[in-house]
Parts: sequence; structure tokens; C-alpha cells
Amino acid sequence: MIIIVGSRRDGNSLKLANRIHDELNKERIFSKIIVPGNQKIHICTGCMDCDKDGVCEFNDDMKQNIEDIKNDNVIMFITPTRWNLLSGDLKIMIDRLNPLYSRNGLKNKNMIAVSIGCKDRDLYSTEAALSSLISFSESAGMNLILDKQFFNCLKDDDILSHEDEIVKFISDVKAKIKNC
Ligand SMILES: Cc1cc2nc3c(=O)[nH]c(=O)nc-3n(C[C@H](O)[C@H](O)[C@H](O)COP(=O)(O)O)c2cc1C
Repeated sequence: MIIIVGSRRDGNSLKLANRIHDELNKERIFSKIIVPGNQKIHICTGCMDCDKDGVCEFNDDMKQNIEDIKNDNVIMFITPTRWNLLSGDLKIMIDRLNPLYSRNGLKNKNMIAVSIGCKDRDLYSTEAALSSLISFSESAGMNLILDKQFFNCLKDDDILSHEDEIVKFISDVKAKIKNC
């Protein structure tokens, strides 16, 4: 599984990703964490050349990211909620997936979508961020196999107080990816 983390700080999203990675590792299930915000990724210019030949003129970290996604069939996106949306780091990375999309390379990949926010469940903010990830998966023809929201996470380690939810989520992830 490829785990794409939408926050560049050592915060809730990355802590969750590391935890998932460690738990999968114990069962010898491969996972790789990508933090686009800490990579060199040019912003898509919208030239649309990749629609013609599947090639992007930029030579940056997206080359390896696209290879990683090509070679795996489960992709997890973890986004911090930003203004009820997915993070900008993720959006920049997702736009650069168009060369893969244009060659049907995202179609039928399995997607796990996670959003984390500081607000309470009943404000629907984290849900809106999750929806933006789910809209992307639908647009790309991916299969959403699992989604999860974490609420009330503001400080960079607030997610650690959601231990029961983390354990249950990781168990759900394992169950889902065993069928993929
Ligand atoms: C610019 C910005 C906008 C944010 N907007 C929201 C929001 O709309 N709803 C929300 O619940 N949290 C919002 N937050 C809080 C973050 O989602 C929250 O702190 C989250 O845990 C950050 O994840 P991280 O620790 O992985 O960076 C925002 C944070 C920032 C920096």
C-alpha cells in the first residue's frame, strides 16, 4: 500500500501514517509513505501534453511517485482538513497524476480516504475534506474501499488520544487490503 500524507509537519496525519506502516510491517505487508509537501513537485501548468502522450515535461519526484502508484493496488490518502477541503500539498500532487490517469493508470486502483480536522463531527468540516478526496477518487475511476474521519485534532499529537479509533481503523485497513 502507498500512503500519501497531505501534511508536511510531524503532525496527526504523519503520526497516523507511521503507525499504519509499523502495524502493517509486523504482518509483513508492504507500505510506503509519501509526503508530497517534503518533495520537489512542480505545480501542473495545465498544458495537457500528458493527455496526448502520457508524459509530463517536469522531471521531479512525481516520476517515482507515479511508478510507486502504478506498482501498487491500494492507495491511501490522509489529508488534514484545510478550509473544509483537502490540503494544498495533496491537490498539487493529485493534479500531477494526470499522466497516469490519461493512460487509465488510476482506474480500478483501490483507494482509502482519511481526513483529520480540529473541528467537531457535527460541524461537517472534516466530512467536507473527506468528500473532496472521494470526489477525486470517483473522477479518477478508483474504487473507494474504506474511509475514515478523525475529529478534534488540532495540536500536532492530538490524534494520539484517539487510540481506540486508530486500532479499529488499522484493523479495518488490514481486513480490506487482504481482499485486494
Ligand atoms: C490553514 C488551515 C486551515 C484549517 N482548516 C480547518 C478546517 O476547515 N476544519 C478543521 O476541522 N480543521 C482545520 N484546520 C486544522 C487542521 O485540520 C488540524 O490541525 C489537523 O489536525 C492538522 O493535521 P496535521 O497535524 O497532520 O497537520 C486547519 C488548519 C490550517 C493550518
